Amino acid sequence: ENESTVSITVVGASGDLAKKKIFPALFALYYEGCLPKNFTIYGYARSKMTNAELRNMVSKTLTCRIDRSENCSEKMDEFLKRCFYHSGQYDSPENFAALDKKLKEHEGGRISNRLYYLSIPPNIFIDAVKCASLSASSGNGWTRVIVEKPFGRDSDSSAALTRSLKQYLTEDQIFRIDHYLGKELVENLSVLRFSNLIFEPLWSRQYIRNVQLIFSEDFGTEGRGGYFDNYGIIRDIMQNHLLQILALFAMETPVSLDAEDIRNEKVKVLRSMRPIQLEDVVVGQYKGHTRGGVTYPAYTDDKTVPKDSLTPTFAAAALFIDNARWDGVPFLMKAGKALHNKGAEIRVQFRHVPGNLYNRNIGTDLDRATNELVIRVQPDEAIYLKINNKVPGLGMRLDHSKLNLHYAARYSTEIPDAYERLLLDAIEGERRLFIRSDELDAAWSLFTPVLNELEEKKIIPEYYPYGSRGPVGAHYLAAKYKVRWGDLGLDTEQ
Ligand code: BG6
Repeated sequence: ENESTVSITVVGASGDLAKKKIFPALFALYYEGCLPKNFTIYGYARSKMTNAELRNMVSKTLTCRIDRSENCSEKMDEFLKRCFYHSGQYDSPENFAALDKKLKEHEGGRISNRLYYLSIPPNIFIDAVKCASLSASSGNGWTRVIVEKPFGRDSDSSAALTRSLKQYLTEDQIFRIDHYLGKELVENLSVLRFSNLIFEPLWSRQYIRNVQLIFSEDFGTEGRGGYFDNYGIIRDIMQNHLLQILALFAMETPVSLDAEDIRNEKVKVLRSMRPIQLEDVVVGQYKGHTRGGVTYPAYTDDKTVPKDSLTPTFAAAALFIDNARWDGVPFLMKAGKALHNKGAEIRVQFRHVPGNLYNRNIGTDLDRATNELVIRVQPDEAIYLKINNKVPGLGMRLDHSKLNLHYAARYSTEIPDAYERLLLDAIEGERRLFIRSDELDAAWSLFTPVLNELEEKKIIPEYYPYGSRGPVGAHYLAAKYKVRWGDLGLDTEQ
């Protein structure tokens, strides 16, 4: 192992994602001693920059976590010494060949493995893959490429992208990231289901009334309007992040924890899903308003967004899995930007207790009295189960309480960022948390028809004020299936 090297090239090194996530994650891995002994990091981008300038840029993105000891700044210096810069065009074989030459110098004739992280806009994806593959692949080790969404904007464009990628790479060289799969509580879903006796027997239409997958951000698309307007919230969050969580939540027990076994089960869920009906989708867009002297912008105030844009910044949808386990159970998704709070949650509402002896002691809110399992993916990670108990005392009054696994209270270490896990997995060749091309196809088949319909019929989004709870249409959609949305953060007490 000492004889092999890994070169990690971040293509699009000066972009937002690279600065916010990739370099900090690489440093965190280095700090934890998770990177291979012989590694080199290259930033690749068009602008002219020296190694020193790159290091300076990267250094501003690195932080020491509270649980890291004093030698953190030394470690940063060591890390930065292993970072280099190469300036080049994304479609230039010569520029990639020049990178290849530099990589070879670092590799010094050892077995060389190469990881490319494509952190660039989709229109230059293929050019960069082509150049990296033809001019800067490893000669004696592996070459892998990490790609980020958008993977097209519908079934056809996604299939075309996959076809183009496969001209230059084999499926097992392609690592499609969905960073929600790298989140601690999403990874924990399978542990919760398959290593505890008490959940799996309840995990079906027999006991579960509905499942809610909620994503909410309290800021708008500021600065990203140009990208966002071509995609919208359904493509940005639902078709990937929420759907991936749904698949892991609903899949059958895989044969093993191997990547292929898990992904086989996820694909089955996706392929069993009923086509989404337009009546089961609510779209919204945020509008500007002023509150307490502060003015919040409308989505269309962004200079890069057309004034008459109908792109949804909010959506809610009811989805169904037509298989024996989930027949008739609504899976309700809700995702929005510029809402009143920020977080992501999975909420599982269980059925009412048949012939409940205590109905009269519960009070009027029968709905709240059912059991609910909440997996709070972020922030303030937690898994809690709402149960009924007697209020202590001589009377007989019931209360709702929580059995709560609150991560911050239970564990003193900070939870690693999703990108740390995913980068490490890509280096180690672990594909479990990456999206296979048939999964991607199935995800697009599910959403493409309704996305087309929304666009063809020019469905007008319901406007909601920046910082509000979103369109009331979401409430009616849930009510249609006798569901009441859980409210993120509402149950943070007790
Ligand atoms: C990205 C979306 O995939 O996920 C963004 O493109 C969104 O619009 C982001 O803000 C949310 O990720 P996280 O990890 O901050 O919840």
